[in-house]
Amino acid sequence: RTVYLNGEYLPEAEAKVSIFDRGFVMADGVYEVTSVLGGKLLDFPGHLKRLARSLSELQMGNPLSDDEWLAIHRKLVELNAIDEGIIYLQVTRGNAGDRDFAFPAEDTPPTVVLFTQSKPGLAANPQAKTGLRVISVPDLRWSRRDIKTVQLLYPSLAKMEAKHRGVDDAWLVEDGFVTEGTSNNTYIVKDGKIITRQLSQDILHGITRASLLRYAAEAQMQIEERPFTIEEAQAADEAFFTSASAFVLPVVEIDGAKVGNGSAGPVATRLRELYLEESL
Ligand code: PDD
Repeated sequence: RTVYLNGEYLPEAEAKVSIFDRGFVMADGVYEVTSVLGGKLLDFPGHLKRLARSLSELQMGNPLSDDEWLAIHRKLVELNAIDEGIIYLQVTRGNAGDRDFAFPAEDTPPTVVLFTQSKPGLAANPQAKTGLRVISVPDLRWSRRDIKTVQLLYPSLAKMEAKHRGVDDAWLVEDGFVTEGTSNNTYIVKDGKIITRQLSQDILHGITRASLLRYAAEAQMQIEERPFTIEEAQAADEAFFTSASAFVLPVVEIDGAKVGNGSAGPVATRLRELYLEESL
């Protein structure tokens, strides 16, 4: 695989960064994940906009222009012949020389890394039909989840807890309400209405979420942005989640209780089709 590191396209084994990189010692950096279908980038302008915002919230400059970001993404898709998959982009605060809580000097170059992951069958994911099972766990992340930082330890622990308990993912709960999934935005459907938590610093402002809600509104579907509880989700007609790598996937069981009749529902199925049609 060919990857991108600080201006160069390199075989992955030759791409090396310093052990003093702030990303390595402090999780001081941000990332984006963009999906690729048929060699085409999905929702790319949205990902670039959120990247710019994440960088600015952490007082980091944007090292490249939108055109340059696009060119790198396109080049990696081409070099690695990606038909279906994702592109991972990461910007960290760079090599500080020493470990120090204070930021390094302003002119320290950031470390920019991009790589592809081929995922054949991404669009034809069988989980779109079978649905996924989740458990709920407390949301113990920091309070700025609107910034897409590389600090992913808690979501990773929550994902492992789900795996150990034989299910697919975990939904995170704070003050009695679902915030989001380990790496996705969460929704329920009741009497035809799509319910999802409103944007705030409590959740990541999903790019797939933004597009999907726009397509749903255009299709005259009803949307309500408010928090919901696990109990409400268990009693809903349907539940589902969205992310760049999953698009829309149904959730058919929460903490052992079936949602609806325990299979993928019509609204989630329709929304997945709608998202794939509209964003391609
Ligand atoms: N995760 N919420 C969290 C906590 C996320 O990590 C993600 C994305 C989302 C969905 O955002 P989007 O629709 O922009 O992908 C919501 C990516 C895919 C990841 O970490 O792999």
